[in-house]
Amino acid sequence: MSGRLRLGIAGLGTVGVGVIKIIRREAQMLTARTGVEITISAVSARTRDKDRGVSLSGYDWEDDPVKLATREDVDVFVELMGGSDGPAKAATEAALKAGKDVVTANKAMLAVHGQALAELAEAQGRVIRYEAAVAGGIPVVKALTEGLAGNAITRVMGVMNGTCNYILTRMESAGLPYEEVFEEANQLGYLEADPELDVGGIDAGHKLSLLAAVAFGTRVAFDDMELEGIGRLTIEDIRAAADMGYRIKLLGVARMTGRGLEQRMSPCLVPMTSPLGQLEGGTNMVVLEGNAVERIVLRGPGAGEGPTASAVMGDVCDIARGLRIPVFGQKAETLVAAVPAKSVTPAAYYLRMTLQDKPGALAKVATVLGEAGVSIHRMRQYDHEGGGAPVLIVTHQTDRQSLDVALSAMDKTGVVETRPVAIRIEEV
Ligand code: NAP
Ligand code: HSE
Repeated sequence: MSGRLRLGIAGLGTVGVGVIKIIRREAQMLTARTGVEITISAVSARTRDKDRGVSLSGYDWEDDPVKLATREDVDVFVELMGGSDGPAKAATEAALKAGKDVVTANKAMLAVHGQALAELAEAQGRVIRYEAAVAGGIPVVKALTEGLAGNAITRVMGVMNGTCNYILTRMESAGLPYEEVFEEANQLGYLEADPELDVGGIDAGHKLSLLAAVAFGTRVAFDDMELEGIGRLTIEDIRAAADMGYRIKLLGVARMTGRGLEQRMSPCLVPMTSPLGQLEGGTNMVVLEGNAVERIVLRGPGAGEGPTASAVMGDVCDIARGLRIPVFGQKAETLVAAVPAKSVTPAAYYLRMTLQDKPGALAKVATVLGEAGVSIHRMRQYDHEGGGAPVLIVTHQTDRQSLDVALSAMDKTGVVETRPVAIRIEEV
């Protein structure tokens, strides 16, 4: 490379088109900032004759992304097709073997194959950059690998799927049930081709697994993550949580404990007044805690053409400037295989249940909780006529095993109409 950094871009969808627009619009600025001219040699997608709303003139076309990735006139392979395997992985491997650096937005591929790809990259003396893969436009990988490099990270936490946050905040503001807002999100084009990636927490789990690897110097361990989506959340829980001063978020939490690496992506309650509780719509937020910095909060758009292309271009500019950081912030061979924590850090829990309206029902529930060692912090019973009595309980901190003992025992009291809903309250 001399005075020019030549890209090969595979994938001309939302993100690929955004990248081309920035390169065409900001050519002079990019050269001024990096000292080199950033150009596109060739592009690839499935369909050649599609109007993509951007000119592709001056770029060669390749039907095969692997061919694109290995062209002589490509210095950096930009993978924007998606998918954990298939052409994305084949072309990324081919690019690295051919001595190219790689920039990708593909969290699924890195969550599944991150360690092997990092080892391959380092063996070839190449880098893989993936800022766009986690929290879209928020430069969180950069914050962890560079700005916070002097910290032992104690906790990484965040809302990293904009679609789920849109669904949850819209349910609350419009008072609509999950199914209706899910359909609305679908009509607006917010959902992935496989919606379970979003609402099942998988997409956000992929992202958290990458941040955990960087934060704790561990091999990516997506398979060890405790994963639960938002599909079982009801408008009743959203309203009841709000009445107790909380919001429900699909929250990712990773921390290294004496019991091993804890990684969870699941619905949690957070205080309504906290930055996470205030997060509306499709916006993402990542909270990073380190032993020196204490806490930083990063907030911004987690998806979309401009924000995601912005992150891709940040990576391209770093490569143009000669910045070469190992894929997960330290050499792949030094990443340790973390023992997954078998139990979760104690927390307070929110419980919602409907009790039979008869004398002693509440006392029985309180007794069962007490016998399991679960202490009640706050409680509320709502007006009811004729039907069961709706009851909310917020516990003091407890371990999950004790709570599960209490929940099983409640089934046998004969006074609880349906199994209580239990949601963790995360300290933020
Ligand atoms: P997209 O709009 O669906 O575009 C995918 C592109 O890849 C299309 O141009 C498609 O070609 C091309 N493609 C798919 N399979 C191919 C194949 N076998 N060979 C060649 N080209 C192929 O996807 P996107 O939203 O831009 O996302 C791209 C990547 O960025 C994914 O990894 C995604 O997870 C990640 N990401 C996206 C966002 C976002 O806001 N969209 C945010 C963060 C990360 P055709 O156009 O011809 O069909
Ligand atoms: N489906 C993802 C989201 C896209 O909703 O956040 C960005 O990764």
